[in-house]
Amino acid sequence: MISEKEYRKRRTRLGRKLKPFSVAVLFSATPKTRSNDTEYPYRQDSNFYYMSGFKEDNSALVFVKGAKNFHTFLFVAKKDKTQELWHGKRLGKAKAKEHFMVDDVFEFDEFNAKFKEFVTDKHHVYYDFKLDYSKVKVLKRYTKDILSYENLATYIERMRLIKSKNEIKLIKKALSITKKAHHKAMKISAKLQYEYQLQANIEYIFKKNGAYSDAYTSIVACGNSANTLHYINNDKKLVQGELILIDAGCEYDYYASDITRTIPVSGEYTKAQEEVYEMVLTVQKKIISMIQPNILRSSLQKKSEELLCQGMIDLGILQGECKVLLKEKAHKKYYPHGIGHWMGLDVHDECPYKKLNGKEIPLHPGMVMTIEPGIYLDEEDDNIPKKYRGIGIRIEDDILVTKNGHENLSCKIVKEIQDITRKSNSNR
Ligand code: GLY
Ligand code: MN
Ligand code: MN
Repeated sequence: MISEKEYRKRRTRLGRKLKPFSVAVLFSATPKTRSNDTEYPYRQDSNFYYMSGFKEDNSALVFVKGAKNFHTFLFVAKKDKTQELWHGKRLGKAKAKEHFMVDDVFEFDEFNAKFKEFVTDKHHVYYDFKLDYSKVKVLKRYTKDILSYENLATYIERMRLIKSKNEIKLIKKALSITKKAHHKAMKISAKLQYEYQLQANIEYIFKKNGAYSDAYTSIVACGNSANTLHYINNDKKLVQGELILIDAGCEYDYYASDITRTIPVSGEYTKAQEEVYEMVLTVQKKIISMIQPNILRSSLQKKSEELLCQGMIDLGILQGECKVLLKEKAHKKYYPHGIGHWMGLDVHDECPYKKLNGKEIPLHPGMVMTIEPGIYLDEEDDNIPKKYRGIGIRIEDDILVTKNGHENLSCKIVKEIQDITRKSNSNR
């Protein structure tokens, strides 16, 4: 859990960075309609949540800065018996005042009037540039004489790069649940008939263990479906003898996990599947071993491309000299994506990869990055040796950068062939 003190500390850090005579505004996420009269489950905006810890919609957080000092104000939905009958209880202004360590709390209905008051005599306005246009219009109505509009998200997303001890604990908790789900998948895949049945079992484990949601739509892709990178239909049959690429991770108390395992439906890898799997696994382990402070993500990317390219030459999937193939980007056909991404409040954590001067941000203790090399060999690609066609393999772990190197936060989710096979066969 993140304490109120930690949220206040974040606000203090942000407040200090704001220019003198400025106002900064963060809004809660807007509820989204799924189909008429029904909504998607509400999920708070990650930047707003990072700064406030408040989960309700119709709320806002405002920083008002003078020459040096700043004050913070939270706007919350008012308590309303009819609204609460339909949509659930609200914390309300009085309780919010007790709970949150902000300078004052107002009702959201008062936002426009208060904002107009706050911006009088101010020179700069900060807001998240991804904000809905309707809300930007409201802000700009009252800020005609402002000198500059600044993107508040830039500052927050930079802070989000380095995870605190409590944030790491939540990611670890999410991963402990995701581990159970992947291990369950290994045990039961042989007994199920369809991808969506496996998905249901995985997501049941998430919810059963207190993870309210998945961190992204689960990919459960049997056989050649694994060669569609964003396969989410999960509606095909599980075929004995084929592999299943499972990219699934739960979100626990707003923190993501992001794990891919590629397992055999029947519990045993064929020789051809094993050859490709071992190659990808060797590369994944090598890249993870390189993670330490100051290394660049682009170096990890480059190394993964070199190793996968050589691996594909060794297997006869690519023909030619590695250097030449890399230059021609021939390997990209089968390894088209990045080696990994930041992870935290969002599965693809919205943190920068470059500094303001355009230079790449090197890894630093407290950052969390996924490492997920993959090879996708489409069944219709005649250039690939026949035995490998239709195989798609990705192996993904979540890695914390530490002072002395790294910690693989998902190292307990098995990925060695013998361990996966053992789990698969343990329930027969
Ligand atoms: N699950 C999304 C990704 O691996 O990037
Ligand atoms: Mn993933
Ligand atoms: Mn990922």
